[in-house]
Amino acid sequence: MRIRPRRNRKNETIRNMVAETTLRPSDLMYPLFLNYGEGAPQAIPSLPGIFRFSQSDLEREIEEALELGLRSFVLFPAVPERYKDQHATYSSNPDNFYLKSIRRINERFPEIALMSDVAMDPYSSDGHDGLVKDGIILNDETLPILSEMSVAQAQAGVDIIGPSDMMDGRVGSIRDALDHAGYDHVSIMSYTAKYASAYYGPFRDALDSAPKAGDKKTYQMDPANKQEALIEAELDTIEGADFLMVKPALCYLDVIHLLKSNSKLPIAAYNVSGEYAMLKAACEKGWLDYDVAMPEMLLSIKRAGASVILSYFAKDFARLFKNKF
Ligand code: PBG
Repeated sequence: MRIRPRRNRKNETIRNMVAETTLRPSDLMYPLFLNYGEGAPQAIPSLPGIFRFSQSDLEREIEEALELGLRSFVLFPAVPERYKDQHATYSSNPDNFYLKSIRRINERFPEIALMSDVAMDPYSSDGHDGLVKDGIILNDETLPILSEMSVAQAQAGVDIIGPSDMMDGRVGSIRDALDHAGYDHVSIMSYTAKYASAYYGPFRDALDSAPKAGDKKTYQMDPANKQEALIEAELDTIEGADFLMVKPALCYLDVIHLLKSNSKLPIAAYNVSGEYAMLKAACEKGWLDYDVAMPEMLLSIKRAGASVILSYFAKDFARLFKNKF
C-alpha cells in the first residue's frame, strides 16, 4: 500500500496540522436572557446552566464571558405578561427594560457585538411572531411593527438586528426603516431558514412565549423542505441581509451546507435550546462525555459551513478552549 491515510492521523501534532476545520470562541455567539427588574438569577429547568438574569447579573455574566474570550452576544427579553398586548406595543416603548438594557450594555461594553431579537412573540399576548387576527397571522400588517421595533433597538445601540419572525419581506422593510432613520451601519442577521421545530421548546419555557393557540407552521418552514431555503436565502440577500441564518442547526446541517455553497454571505447557525438540552441531559445521565461530545457537535455545525454559531454551549466551550491553549 502506497497510500495510507492513517499516516496523517498518527499523532496529535500531525492531526492538528491537517485539521480542515477549527473552532474558536470568536466563532460563537452567546444567547442571554434578560429578566424584568432585580432579583436572583432564575434557573430554566429545561436549559440546565442557563439563567434569566437581572440587568446587574447580566452585566456580570457578560464580564465573565469576555474573560473567557467570547465577544458576541444575542439578547432575549422575558417580558412580564402585563406588558403584552396584541400589537406588541411594548416592543418599541422607549421605557422598555430590554431597550434600556441594550443601551447600558452598549455603554459599558463598547467592544462587543450585540444582537437583538426582532419578532412579536416575546411581547405578544397571542404568543405569535406576527399580528394575529381571527386566528390568521397577518404578514404585511406585521412588517411596520417589526420595523419600528428594529429602529428602537438600533437607537438603543444594538450592532446587529436579528429578525426571527419569518414574515415575508421583513428584511427589506427593516433595512429601509433603519436606513431612513440613519442606521445604515446597523447589520441584519436574518433568520433565513427557520424551521417549525420541536427543538425550540426549552427556549419557549425560558421566555414563557409559546403560542396561546395554534402553531407556527404558517410562517416557519416545513422540516421536509430544502429548496425552499434557497428561495428564502435569495430574498434575504436581495433585501439587504448581512448574514443568513439556519435554525435549528443539527437536524439541518444539509441546509447550512446548501446555503454555504449557494451564497457569498456569511452563514450563521442557531444551535437551539432543544439541541443543548438533549446533550446536557444525556451527559447528566453519564451516557455521553460532555467535554468531547459538546465540541464535536459545535464542530459539525462549523464543518457544514457556518461561520457563526449561536450556542448555549458558548461559555463551556470557551472554558475548555482556554484550558487547552
Ligand atoms: C422567537 C424565537 C424562538 C427562538 C429564537 N427566537 C422560538 C420560536 O420561534 O418559537 C428559539 C431559540 C432556541 O430554541 O434556542 N421568535
